Amino acid sequence: MKQLLCISSIADGTPAREIARIAATSRRFNQTAAITGTLVFDGASFCHYLEGPDPALEALLSRLAADPRHERFAVLFEARIEARRFDLWRMGYALPETQAVRLDELRKLSGEAALQQWLLWLPSFELGD
Ligand SMILES: Cc1cc2nc3c(=O)[nH]c(=O)nc-3n(C[C@H](O)[C@H](O)[C@H](O)COP(=O)(O)O)c2cc1C
Repeated sequence: MKQLLCISSIADGTPAREIARIAATSRRFNQTAAITGTLVFDGASFCHYLEGPDPALEALLSRLAADPRHERFAVLFEARIEARRFDLWRMGYALPETQAVRLDELRKLSGEAALQQWLLWLPSFELGD
């Protein structure tokens, strides 16, 4: 099993209603593929933390790389894991009043440092229950 931390920016011209569509597709597909984690959006950038079986993640990565609704897609961190951090898949938001959080800042960090910063932010994300 692997974990991945990815970042991308919403593409110019992507209507806001696409966010709901992305949430619905992700929930359906990730459940059947045993992919867990979170997708957080701050109004400009998406940060994707994914964990699951290698073949399912590989397949998802190639679909993500080809999706025109976002751009500057990059994998910031990738590692093998024994146990999951999340037991389900959730989409949520970085709240604008949390001044410290600008998801795009993660691009300046690489590897483990990006994961650590994301873990520090995690409790401030609005992920629902
Ligand atoms: C920011 C972003 C995150 C996405 N996350 C997922 C995801 O976690 N799981 C998923 O199945 N699709 C996700 N998608 C949608 C995929 O890119 C793709 O549209 C979807 O899997 C359907 O693939 P298909 O159009 O090849 O059938 C995401 C799209 C975007 C723009």
